[in-house]
Amino acid sequence: MHHLVASCISLLIFLLTPSKAKHNSTYNNPILPGWHSDPSCTRVEDVFFCVTSTFDVFPGLPIYASKDLLDWKLVSHAWNRESQLPGYSAGTEGQQLGHYAATIRHHDGIFYVICVYLGAPAETGVLYTTKNPYDDSAWSDPVTFNASSIDPDLFWDDDGKVYTVLSGITLQEIDVKTGDLSDPINIWNGTGGVYPEGPHLYKKDGFYYLLIAEGGTELKHSISIARSTNLKGPYESYKHNPILTNRNTDEYFQTVGHGDLFQDTNGNWWGTALATRGGPSWKVYPMGRETVLFPVTWEKGQWPILEPVKGHMTGWTLPPRTRELPGEGPFNDDPDVYDFKSGSDIPRNLVYFRVPREDSFAVTRKGLRIIPSRGNLTGIPGNDDLSGQKGLGFIGRRQTDTYFTYSVVINFEPKRIGQEAGVTVFLTQENHIDLGVVLLNSSHKDESPRLYFRLRTEATIVDNLPAVPAPRQPVKIIPIPHSWVGEKIRLQIKTINETHYGFSAMPSTRPQAAIDIGSASAQLVSGGSGTFVGSLVGAYATCNGVGSGSDCTQGGEVYIDRWRYSGHGQVIE
Ligand SMILES: *[C@@H]1O[C@H](CO)[C@@H](O)[C@H](O)[C@H]1NC(C)=O
Ligand SMILES: *[C@@H]1O[C@H](CO)[C@@H](O)[C@H](O)[C@H]1NC(C)=O
Ligand SMILES: *[C@@H]1O[C@H](CO)[C@@H](O)[C@H](O)[C@H]1NC(C)=O
Ligand SMILES: *[C@@H]1O[C@H](CO)[C@@H](O)[C@H](O)[C@H]1NC(C)=O
Ligand SMILES: *[C@@H]1O[C@H](CO)[C@@H](O)[C@H](O)[C@H]1NC(C)=O
Ligand SMILES: *[C@@H]1O[C@H](CO)[C@@H](O)[C@H](O)[C@H]1NC(C)=O
Repeated sequence: MHHLVASCISLLIFLLTPSKAKHNSTYNNPILPGWHSDPSCTRVEDVFFCVTSTFDVFPGLPIYASKDLLDWKLVSHAWNRESQLPGYSAGTEGQQLGHYAATIRHHDGIFYVICVYLGAPAETGVLYTTKNPYDDSAWSDPVTFNASSIDPDLFWDDDGKVYTVLSGITLQEIDVKTGDLSDPINIWNGTGGVYPEGPHLYKKDGFYYLLIAEGGTELKHSISIARSTNLKGPYESYKHNPILTNRNTDEYFQTVGHGDLFQDTNGNWWGTALATRGGPSWKVYPMGRETVLFPVTWEKGQWPILEPVKGHMTGWTLPPRTRELPGEGPFNDDPDVYDFKSGSDIPRNLVYFRVPREDSFAVTRKGLRIIPSRGNLTGIPGNDDLSGQKGLGFIGRRQTDTYFTYSVVINFEPKRIGQEAGVTVFLTQENHIDLGVVLLNSSHKDESPRLYFRLRTEATIVDNLPAVPAPRQPVKIIPIPHSWVGEKIRLQIKTINETHYGFSAMPSTRPQAAIDIGSASAQLVSGGSGTFVGSLVGAYATCNGVGSGSDCTQGGEVYIDRWRYSGHGQVIE
C-alpha cells in the first residue's frame, strides 16, 4: 500500500515537472559491493561492461554488464576453463597470485580482456577475446605475451595500431593476434607516489591522456593524470594532481584509486575505481576493495574533473533502471537461493580457491557434493599435496553486504576422526573463520568418537601494514546434541553488527532448537595476508590431513543443499 502511494506521488511529481528527468541523479556507492577490485569498464552501444581482479579464485575475471550503471549482471568469466591456462593454477604458490588487474575494451565487434597472470610460470601476459561476452564458452584461450610488468591497458590509435601500457609506466605496441611486442618505452613515472600502476590511455581533442594509480593500494592510493599531443610523450603532468583520492580525509570510503573512464550514451563521462569501506580507521573491512562510480566533467581541451568518492553521490542523469540484459546472471545484489536440484549447474557467482580438482564438486540427487580435500583450508604451505594449490574442498561467494545471513544445510556422515564439513568466512588460507562439524575422539574416556561443532580461526599477523588482524581466538568445541544425530544440520553465519559475525547451528527442520556457537571479529578477515582480495562466505569439506598424497581416505564427502545468502543492509558512511 505504502509502495503504491509512493509511486503515485512520484508519478505526479514527474508529470508536473517533466524537466526533473534531465536533472542530475543520486545513487549510492559501492556499485559493485563486495570484493571487486581494479575495475575496468567500457560501453558498447547501450551496455556498460566491467571486469575486476580475481587473484586466487577460479573462475576468474568476472564480466559484469549493466544498462543503468547500478544493476550489474554477472554475464561470464573471461577465465572459466583450466584448459585456457593449463597447469598455471596448480603451479601458483602464495595466497594472492593469479590474474591481477585487467582492462576490458571493445574494438570492431570483439571484446578484449588483457591481464597479467602472476604465478607459474613467472609473469605471463594474457589476452582473452570474445564476440559474445554473455557466454563463458565463447571466451578464447588467451594469446600470451611477455609481460614486463602488471596492469596492462589496451589502446587503439587512430592509425589502427594497438598499444599496451603497463605499470611503470611503459608503452609497447602489441600484436593482438600473436602477442608480439615492440620494446617498452618509459613514458611517465607519475608524480612521485609509490607504484605508478593501473594505466589507461584515452585520446580526446588531440591529446593522449594517461590516467594512472599511485601511492599503493592502501590509504595513500590516488589517481593522477598526464597528457601529450604525442603518444610516445613527453607527457605533461597535470598541476592539480592527484585528480582523485580520499587520503588524509575522514571519509568512510578509503583507498580510492585504480580507475577507468568511459562515456554514457548522452556523451557524459563517468569513472569507476576501487575503494575500501571502514574508514577512516580502516581496521575492519572484510569485503576488501570494492567498485565505486563517480561522475566526471570533461570539457573540450580541458583536464577531467573527477567527483570525490562518497557513499551518497550525485552526478549526471543515469539511464533508466532496467534489468533487461541477455545471459544468465545473477545480478550482484540478488540473494542466493540455491537448492542444487539434480541436473542444475553450479551457479555462476560461486567460486573456488584456485582451480578445483576434477570431480570435487558435483550437483547430485542429494545436493551439491563436495569431496573433501586432504589439506584443510589452512593447509601446509610448500607441501605439494597439502598446500591447497591443487584446489580445496571449498566453494564460496563474495560477502557483498555489511549485514547478511548465510546458511547451508549439510548432509554429512563422517566415519573417520578428523573428517570435517562446515561453513567459513574465507579471505585467504591464512585468514579465515570456520564453523565445522567434525568427528573427534570423545573427551569422555570410554565414549566412542562423536560429532562436535568446532569454531576456529586462522589469522596471521602482518605487521608491515596498518591493518593488523586481531589475534586468532581460542578454538571452541561443543558436542552436537545426541538428539540431533541422524538429522541434517543447518550451519549459519550472520553478522551481529558491523564488526562481528555470529555462528550458529540448528537441525534443518527445527530452527527453534538453534545453538549459538560463538562469534568472531571481521577484523580477522580484513587485510592481513589478503590485502588484495576480499572475504568469501562458503562451505567446505576436509579430512584434515588423514590419507596420503592429495587424497583423503575414502568417505567424508558432504552434500550441501538449501544454500542461502541474503543481504540486510549496507553501511556507506
Ligand atoms: C621479455 O621482456 C623483457 C623486457 O621487457 C626481456 O628482458 C626478456 O628477454 C623478454 N623475454 C622473452 C622470452 O622474450
Ligand atoms: C623515470 O625515472 C627514471 C629513473 O629516475 C628516469 O631514468 C626516467 O627518465 C624517468 N622517466 C620519465 C618518462 O620521466
Ligand atoms: C551534474 O553533475 C555533473 C557531474 O558531476 C556536474 O558537472 C554538474 O554541475 C551537475 N549539474 C547540476 C545542475 O548540478
Ligand atoms: C582417538 O582415540 C584412539 C583410541 O584411544 C587413539 O588410538 C587415537 O590415536 C585417537 N585419535 C586422535 C586423533 O586423537
Ligand atoms: C559487536 O558484537 C560483538 C560480539 O557480540 C561485541 O563484542 C561488540 O561489542 C559489538 N560491537 C558493537 C559496536 O556493538
Ligand atoms: C590443518 O591440517 C593440518 C594437517 O594437514 C593440521 O596440522 C592443522 O592443525 C589443521 N589446521 C586447521 C586450522 O585446520
